Amino acid sequence: MTAGLQVRGLNKAFGGLVVARDISLDLSPGDRKALIGPNGAGKSTFTNLITGILAPTSGSIQLDGRDIGSLSEAQRVKAGIAKTFQITTLFHSLTVRDNLRLPLLERRGLTARPFRRAAGDGGVEDEVESLLQQFRLTDVGDRVVQRLAYGQQRLVEMAMTLALRPRILILDEPAAGVPSSESPLIAEAIAGLPQDLAVLIIEHDMALVFKVAARIIVLVAGAILTEGTPAEIAADPRVRDLYLGAGHG
Ligand SMILES: Nc1ncnc2c1ncn2[C@@H]1O[C@H](COP(=O)(O)OP(=O)(O)OP(=O)(O)O)[C@@H](O)[C@H]1O
Ligand SMILES: [Mg+2]
Repeated sequence: MTAGLQVRGLNKAFGGLVVARDISLDLSPGDRKALIGPNGAGKSTFTNLITGILAPTSGSIQLDGRDIGSLSEAQRVKAGIAKTFQITTLFHSLTVRDNLRLPLLERRGLTARPFRRAAGDGGVEDEVESLLQQFRLTDVGDRVVQRLAYGQQRLVEMAMTLALRPRILILDEPAAGVPSSESPLIAEAIAGLPQDLAVLIIEHDMALVFKVAARIIVLVAGAILTEGTPAEIAADPRVRDLYLGAGHG
Protein backbone atom coordinates (compact mmCIF):
# COMPACT_ATOMS: atom_id res chain seq x y z
CA MET A 1 0.00 0.00 0.00
CA THR A 2 1.20 3.48 -0.86
CA ALA A 3 0.47 6.06 1.83
CA GLY A 4 -1.10 9.31 0.69
CA LEU A 5 -2.96 10.47 -2.36
CA GLN A 6 -2.39 9.08 -5.83
CA VAL A 7 -4.08 10.78 -8.73
CA ARG A 8 -3.85 9.06 -12.11
CA GLY A 9 -4.91 10.23 -15.54
CA LEU A 10 -7.52 12.72 -14.39
CA ASN A 11 -9.58 14.35 -17.12
CA LYS A 12 -12.38 16.88 -16.86
CA ALA A 13 -14.21 19.02 -19.39
CA PHE A 14 -16.92 21.63 -19.03
CA GLY A 15 -18.75 21.19 -22.32
CA GLY A 16 -16.06 21.76 -24.92
CA LEU A 17 -13.61 23.33 -22.47
CA VAL A 18 -11.01 20.84 -21.24
CA VAL A 19 -9.90 21.91 -17.78
CA ALA A 20 -8.00 18.78 -16.68
CA ARG A 21 -5.90 16.81 -19.15
CA ASP A 22 -4.43 13.54 -18.00
CA ILE A 23 -3.27 14.89 -14.64
CA SER A 24 -1.27 12.52 -12.46
CA LEU A 25 0.05 13.65 -9.10
CA ASP A 26 1.12 12.10 -5.80
CA LEU A 27 0.87 13.63 -2.35
CA SER A 28 2.72 11.64 0.28
CA PRO A 29 3.00 12.26 4.02
CA GLY A 30 5.33 15.21 4.61
CA ASP A 31 5.07 16.56 1.06
CA ARG A 32 5.07 20.32 0.55
CA LYS A 33 4.00 20.77 -3.06
CA ALA A 34 2.73 23.84 -4.85
CA LEU A 35 0.46 23.93 -7.88
CA ILE A 36 0.96 27.09 -9.90
CA GLY A 37 -0.22 28.34 -13.28
CA PRO A 38 -1.98 31.25 -14.95
CA ASN A 39 -5.57 32.28 -14.19
CA GLY A 40 -7.96 29.72 -15.63
CA ALA A 41 -5.31 26.98 -15.83
CA GLY A 42 -7.55 24.62 -13.89
CA LYS A 43 -5.97 24.70 -10.43
CA SER A 44 -9.18 25.17 -8.45
CA THR A 45 -10.96 22.67 -10.69
CA PHE A 46 -8.25 20.14 -9.86
CA THR A 47 -8.79 20.68 -6.12
CA ASN A 48 -12.54 20.30 -6.60
CA LEU A 49 -11.96 16.96 -8.32
CA ILE A 50 -9.86 15.80 -5.38
CA THR A 51 -12.33 16.91 -2.70
CA GLY A 52 -15.30 15.51 -4.58
CA ILE A 53 -17.06 18.78 -5.38
CA LEU A 54 -16.67 17.82 -9.05
CA ALA A 55 -16.57 14.41 -10.71
CA PRO A 56 -13.87 13.72 -13.31
CA THR A 57 -14.67 12.57 -16.83
CA SER A 58 -12.07 9.84 -16.36
CA GLY A 59 -9.11 8.93 -14.21
CA SER A 60 -8.64 7.62 -10.68
CA ILE A 61 -8.05 9.05 -7.21
CA GLN A 62 -6.70 6.78 -4.50
CA LEU A 63 -6.07 7.44 -0.83
CA ASP A 64 -3.72 4.95 0.83
CA GLY A 65 -4.27 2.59 -2.08
CA ARG A 66 -8.06 2.71 -1.85
CA ASP A 67 -10.14 4.20 -4.63
CA ILE A 68 -12.08 7.19 -3.28
CA GLY A 69 -13.62 8.26 -6.57
CA SER A 70 -17.12 7.25 -5.48
CA LEU A 71 -16.97 8.90 -2.04
CA SER A 72 -18.97 12.06 -1.33
CA GLU A 73 -17.32 15.29 -0.29
CA ALA A 74 -18.15 14.63 3.38
CA GLN A 75 -16.84 11.08 3.20
CA ARG A 76 -13.55 12.33 1.74
CA VAL A 77 -13.19 14.81 4.61
CA LYS A 78 -13.70 11.92 7.03
CA ALA A 79 -11.14 9.91 5.08
CA GLY A 80 -8.60 12.68 5.67
CA ILE A 81 -8.74 15.06 2.72
CA ALA A 82 -9.45 18.69 3.56
CA LYS A 83 -9.40 21.93 1.68
CA THR A 84 -9.23 25.17 3.66
CA PHE A 85 -12.43 26.79 4.73
CA GLN A 86 -12.90 30.08 2.91
CA ILE A 87 -13.44 33.41 4.66
CA THR A 88 -16.93 33.27 3.21
CA THR A 89 -17.62 30.17 5.32
CA LEU A 90 -16.44 31.68 8.62
CA PHE A 91 -19.05 32.87 11.09
CA HIS A 92 -18.08 36.52 11.09
CA SER A 93 -20.11 37.60 14.08
CA LEU A 94 -18.84 34.74 16.25
CA THR A 95 -15.55 34.75 18.11
CA VAL A 96 -12.46 32.93 16.89
CA ARG A 97 -12.91 30.36 19.68
CA ASP A 98 -16.51 29.66 18.67
CA ASN A 99 -15.50 29.26 15.04
CA LEU A 100 -12.82 26.75 16.04
CA ARG A 101 -15.24 24.77 18.19
CA LEU A 102 -17.42 24.03 15.18
CA PRO A 103 -15.11 21.68 13.26
CA LEU A 104 -13.86 20.14 16.50
CA LEU A 105 -17.40 19.26 17.56
CA GLU A 106 -18.22 18.16 14.04
CA ARG A 107 -15.25 15.78 14.08
CA ARG A 108 -16.52 14.26 17.33
CA GLY A 109 -20.11 14.11 16.11
CA LEU A 110 -21.20 16.60 18.80
CA THR A 111 -22.76 19.24 16.58
CA ALA A 112 -26.11 18.95 18.34
CA ARG A 113 -24.81 21.08 21.22
CA PRO A 114 -22.60 23.63 19.58
CA PHE A 115 -21.70 26.31 22.09
CA ARG A 116 -22.28 24.60 25.36
CA ARG A 117 -19.13 24.30 27.42
CA ALA A 118 -19.40 20.98 29.18
CA ALA A 119 -17.22 18.75 31.22
CA GLY A 120 -16.34 15.64 29.28
CA ASP A 121 -16.35 17.48 25.97
CA GLY A 122 -13.69 15.11 24.73
CA GLY A 123 -10.94 17.70 25.00
CA VAL A 124 -12.51 20.23 22.66
CA GLU A 125 -11.49 23.22 24.81
CA ASP A 126 -7.90 22.00 25.08
CA GLU A 127 -7.76 21.56 21.36
CA VAL A 128 -9.19 25.04 20.76
CA GLU A 129 -6.43 26.50 22.92
CA SER A 130 -3.69 24.51 21.24
CA LEU A 131 -4.89 25.56 17.77
CA LEU A 132 -5.01 29.20 18.92
CA GLN A 133 -1.43 28.86 20.10
CA GLN A 134 -0.24 27.11 16.97
CA PHE A 135 -1.63 29.89 14.78
CA ARG A 136 -0.70 32.68 17.21
CA LEU A 137 -4.34 33.65 17.65
CA THR A 138 -4.54 33.30 21.44
CA ASP A 139 -4.69 37.07 21.99
CA VAL A 140 -7.64 37.43 19.63
CA GLY A 141 -9.46 34.23 20.62
CA ASP A 142 -12.43 36.09 22.09
CA ARG A 143 -12.70 38.64 19.33
CA VAL A 144 -15.37 38.29 16.67
CA VAL A 145 -13.89 37.24 13.36
CA GLN A 146 -14.98 40.32 11.44
CA ARG A 147 -12.83 42.48 13.75
CA LEU A 148 -9.63 40.65 12.82
CA ALA A 149 -7.06 41.75 10.28
CA TYR A 150 -7.61 39.97 6.98
CA GLY A 151 -4.45 37.88 7.33
CA GLN A 152 -5.63 36.68 10.73
CA GLN A 153 -9.02 35.72 9.29
CA ARG A 154 -7.16 33.54 6.82
CA LEU A 155 -5.29 31.94 9.72
CA VAL A 156 -8.64 31.13 11.33
CA GLU A 157 -9.63 29.32 8.13
CA MET A 158 -6.44 27.29 8.27
CA ALA A 159 -6.88 26.49 11.97
CA MET A 160 -10.48 25.37 11.39
CA THR A 161 -9.38 23.09 8.59
CA LEU A 162 -6.60 21.61 10.69
CA ALA A 163 -9.15 20.93 13.42
CA LEU A 164 -10.55 18.25 11.09
CA ARG A 165 -7.17 16.46 11.45
CA PRO A 166 -6.67 15.92 7.74
CA ARG A 167 -3.78 13.91 6.34
CA ILE A 168 -4.02 15.66 2.98
CA LEU A 169 -4.39 19.44 3.19
CA ILE A 170 -5.18 21.62 0.19
CA LEU A 171 -4.62 25.35 0.57
CA ASP A 172 -6.26 27.27 -2.26
CA GLU A 173 -4.64 30.72 -2.39
CA PRO A 174 -4.02 31.15 1.34
CA ALA A 175 -2.42 34.56 0.77
CA ALA A 176 -4.99 35.94 -1.68
CA GLY A 177 -6.13 39.37 -0.57
CA VAL A 178 -3.66 39.43 2.32
CA PRO A 179 -1.63 42.66 2.40
CA SER A 180 2.08 41.99 1.96
CA SER A 181 2.70 43.25 5.49
CA GLU A 182 0.71 40.27 6.80
CA SER A 183 1.89 37.62 4.33
CA PRO A 184 4.76 36.45 6.61
CA LEU A 185 2.01 35.31 9.01
CA ILE A 186 0.75 32.94 6.34
CA ALA A 187 4.20 31.59 5.52
CA GLU A 188 4.87 31.06 9.21
CA ALA A 189 1.58 29.21 9.68
CA ILE A 190 2.34 26.91 6.76
CA ALA A 191 5.84 26.26 8.10
CA GLY A 192 4.28 25.29 11.43
CA LEU A 193 1.90 22.66 10.01
CA PRO A 194 2.35 19.09 11.30
CA GLN A 195 5.38 17.51 9.65
CA ASP A 196 3.73 14.39 8.28
CA LEU A 197 0.74 16.21 6.82
CA ALA A 198 0.75 16.16 2.99
CA VAL A 199 0.25 19.74 1.79
CA LEU A 200 -0.71 21.04 -1.65
CA ILE A 201 -0.69 24.80 -1.90
CA ILE A 202 -2.19 26.75 -4.78
CA GLU A 203 -0.93 30.28 -4.79
CA HIS A 204 -0.15 33.19 -7.08
CA ASP A 205 2.26 34.81 -4.61
CA MET A 206 5.52 33.34 -5.90
CA ALA A 207 7.55 34.60 -2.94
CA LEU A 208 5.31 32.50 -0.69
CA VAL A 209 5.41 29.49 -3.04
CA PHE A 210 9.20 29.51 -3.15
CA LYS A 211 9.38 29.87 0.61
CA VAL A 212 7.11 26.94 1.51
CA ALA A 213 7.16 24.42 -1.37
CA ALA A 214 9.76 21.69 -1.84
CA ARG A 215 8.33 20.84 -5.27
CA ILE A 216 6.34 22.90 -7.73
CA ILE A 217 3.93 21.63 -10.38
CA VAL A 218 3.10 23.98 -13.24
CA LEU A 219 -0.37 23.66 -14.74
CA VAL A 220 -1.23 25.27 -18.07
CA ALA A 221 -4.56 24.87 -19.86
CA GLY A 222 -5.47 21.90 -17.68
CA ALA A 223 -2.25 19.96 -18.27
CA ILE A 224 0.95 19.63 -16.26
CA LEU A 225 3.65 21.54 -18.14
CA THR A 226 6.45 20.56 -15.80
CA GLU A 227 7.28 19.67 -12.21
CA GLY A 228 10.47 20.30 -10.26
CA THR A 229 12.25 21.87 -7.34
CA PRO A 230 11.85 25.62 -6.86
CA ALA A 231 15.32 26.11 -8.37
CA GLU A 232 14.43 24.02 -11.43
CA ILE A 233 11.14 25.83 -11.91
CA ALA A 234 12.75 29.26 -11.49
CA ALA A 235 15.31 28.36 -14.15
CA ASP A 236 12.76 26.99 -16.65
CA PRO A 237 12.40 29.44 -19.55
CA ARG A 238 8.87 28.13 -20.34
CA VAL A 239 7.75 29.03 -16.84
CA ARG A 240 9.42 32.43 -17.06
CA ASP A 241 7.61 33.10 -20.33
CA LEU A 242 4.31 32.20 -18.71
CA TYR A 243 4.80 34.64 -15.87
CA LEU A 244 6.57 37.45 -17.68
CA GLY A 245 4.31 37.08 -20.69
CA ALA A 246 0.64 37.86 -20.78
CA GLY A 247 0.09 40.25 -17.85
CA HIS A 248 -0.41 37.55 -15.27
CA GLY A 249 -2.13 38.66 -12.04
N1 LIG B 1 -18.43 25.11 -13.15
C1 LIG B 1 -17.83 25.52 -14.27
N2 LIG B 1 -18.45 25.47 -15.47
C2 LIG B 1 -17.85 25.88 -16.59
N3 LIG B 1 -16.58 26.33 -16.66
C3 LIG B 1 -15.90 26.40 -15.50
C4 LIG B 1 -16.47 26.01 -14.24
N4 LIG B 1 -15.55 26.17 -13.27
C5 LIG B 1 -14.45 26.66 -13.88
N5 LIG B 1 -14.64 26.79 -15.21
C6 LIG B 1 -13.66 27.22 -16.19
O1 LIG B 1 -12.59 26.29 -16.13
C7 LIG B 1 -11.34 26.93 -16.31
C8 LIG B 1 -10.44 26.63 -15.15
O2 LIG B 1 -10.92 27.33 -14.01
P1 LIG B 1 -10.23 27.22 -12.57
O3 LIG B 1 -11.07 28.04 -11.66
O4 LIG B 1 -9.99 25.82 -12.24
O5 LIG B 1 -8.84 27.97 -12.84
P2 LIG B 1 -7.72 28.40 -11.81
O6 LIG B 1 -6.44 27.85 -12.31
O7 LIG B 1 -8.12 28.05 -10.42
O8 LIG B 1 -7.71 29.99 -11.97
P3 LIG B 1 -7.41 31.16 -10.92
O9 LIG B 1 -5.93 31.25 -10.83
O10 LIG B 1 -8.00 32.37 -11.57
O11 LIG B 1 -8.07 30.80 -9.63
C9 LIG B 1 -11.65 28.41 -16.51
O12 LIG B 1 -11.69 28.67 -17.90
C10 LIG B 1 -13.02 28.56 -15.88
O13 LIG B 1 -13.72 29.63 -16.48
MG1 LIG C 1 -8.50 29.14 -8.67
